[in-house]
Amino acid sequence: MALNQTNGGMNGQEVQKEALETSLFHNLKPSPEPLAYTPEIARATAPLYEKVAGVIPKIEWAAYAPTIYAINELKKARGAVILGHSYMTPEIYHCVSDFTGDSLMLARKAAEADADIIVQAGVHFMAETSKILCPDKTVLIPDLRAGCSLAESITGADVRMLKKRYPGVPVVTYVNTSADVKAECDICCTSSNAVQVVESLNAPRVILLPDEFLAKNVATMTDVEIISWKGRCEVHEKFTVEDITELRDANPGIVVLAHPECPPDVMAASDFAGSTSDMSNYVKQHQPESAVLITECSMSDNVAVENPQVDFIRPCNLCPHMKRITLDNILHSLQTMTFEVTIEPEIAARARVAVQRMIDLPASTVAGPKFRINQPAADVTLVA
Ligand code: 13P
Ligand code: SF4
Repeated sequence: MALNQTNGGMNGQEVQKEALETSLFHNLKPSPEPLAYTPEIARATAPLYEKVAGVIPKIEWAAYAPTIYAINELKKARGAVILGHSYMTPEIYHCVSDFTGDSLMLARKAAEADADIIVQAGVHFMAETSKILCPDKTVLIPDLRAGCSLAESITGADVRMLKKRYPGVPVVTYVNTSADVKAECDICCTSSNAVQVVESLNAPRVILLPDEFLAKNVATMTDVEIISWKGRCEVHEKFTVEDITELRDANPGIVVLAHPECPPDVMAASDFAGSTSDMSNYVKQHQPESAVLITECSMSDNVAVENPQVDFIRPCNLCPHMKRITLDNILHSLQTMTFEVTIEPEIAARARVAVQRMIDLPASTVAGPKFRINQPAADVTLVA
């Protein structure tokens, strides 16, 4: 059947577009056939390809473009927004995400989102944070297995045990935790505000959970005594000072930027340390000739897109959890409205107090000290 025979006034391109939209929206079972790279899709996605041409080979674009097109159309039809973390691959981060950034930025964007549906292109604790902040919105995660070694290192029962052991000591939990854990704490923090959150409590001792290395890095920046937990990020714990020495030897003048989930000696050997957004902003502002981001692999690709004149050296470690999110499962998520993230209302209400307290910190507090490198190591009490 010639499609345009049934659609009076439309030309061939309009008919194809309508047929694609209809099939995207109504075909709740994703087609086993790959979507075709038609001339119309090539044209519609050309501006997006221009953006990522430096990091995605042309030959791969033909495989990505139809799904990107389909996601962007279906997103509009559903009234959904996609929140893309800095560790998403560039075709997700730059081509289908409505808001991008570090976990703090995404939490803020979730709270402000003018949409009924949020698709979290990130890991499960991020989707839970969105749901905590937006209990009336539908929050979807494209793969429920997208976890986090830090979030899995601690439970709500562990926090209750710590509160019994250290009565009256305020509890800060890193946003990389489950809703159960957040519900037990006084306030949350992220890697971009951990020092300021700890200091905002005006307490001589604070429990900061669950990342041993983040806690040790925060301890170098404050006189507050820190009690922490032996959780680690399986991606950042692998970096060593030897890696940095080798990088500097092979690339004289290179600027080394590290995430504060790295071990303290790696932070001390770097030129700058901060959250994923802090690293990205540093590169934008300073435009170093060459740089290395001591963090997850996709970060360099995403920052390179915005800083084409900076030469990125790319030894990195992949986060297997972040990499569970793909274009295909984002499309599937929008087609089937899966997987919906739900939290028991009583837990969500308590967790919301802690997340909202972090978001509501006054701008003057958040503008406080960032991580400095070359700090002497500081003591932290580790439990577990
Ligand atoms: P950011 O808060 O810096 O985005 O980090 C989140 C994360 O999971 C890092 O491993
Ligand atoms: Fe968790 Fe580390 Fe992966 Fe971030 S990079 S999601 S902290 S395992």
